[in-house]
Amino acid sequence: MERRTFIKMAGISAAAISSSGFTLIKTEEGFSTDCSTSTDMLGPFFREGAPERQIIPPFDGSDEVPLKVVGTIYGADCKSIISEAEIDIWHCDHQKVYDMDSAEFRCRAKLHSDEHGQYWFQTYVPPPYGGRPKHIHYLIHGDSRYDALVTQLYFRGDKRIKPNNWIKYPWDEKRILEVYTNEEGMAEVRLDLYLRKKTS
Ligand SMILES: [Fe+2]
Repeated sequence: MERRTFIKMAGISAAAISSSGFTLIKTEEGFSTDCSTSTDMLGPFFREGAPERQIIPPFDGSDEVPLKVVGTIYGADCKSIISEAEIDIWHCDHQKVYDMDSAEFRCRAKLHSDEHGQYWFQTYVPPPYGGRPKHIHYLIHGDSRYDALVTQLYFRGDKRIKPNNWIKYPWDEKRILEVYTNEEGMAEVRLDLYLRKKTS
């Protein structure tokens, strides 16, 4: 069930969100925490068949800022590591265009989490477009125990991120990421992702 629908049905208000960002879920046993990453729009620009790769080549290198994204895939119990998760990522190029037909699959990749649940990819910071903040799309399939997750990452400080605009709820805050400089001198963000267990 979609998290927002569940919370609405359970009568839990936004005030039930703890400072850690976890959501309190009322169960028959009482309240528990749930780390599951909030969902976001799939959008119209997903393409099947992206090449397996961790380094996405720049479009033409003109004004693109390299970016590394790292993270770990967990279950929504906040601790179970999910290895071999299949991760599709995609974003627009520096001209604000999604490549929908070229054989290069520009700004798209498919990758997998390793035996520790960790993943990384290297691309470059996409520009904002159409009034939307800068963002990178994710579609993640864990194993058969977990629901697929559709979500997006955003960048802390992006002025296009506004309350009740694109990032609507307190738990979405966990997907607005601080950019730091890594040991290679490259801009980097970390997005750990938490997949919800199938309920049926
Ligand atoms: Fe998009």
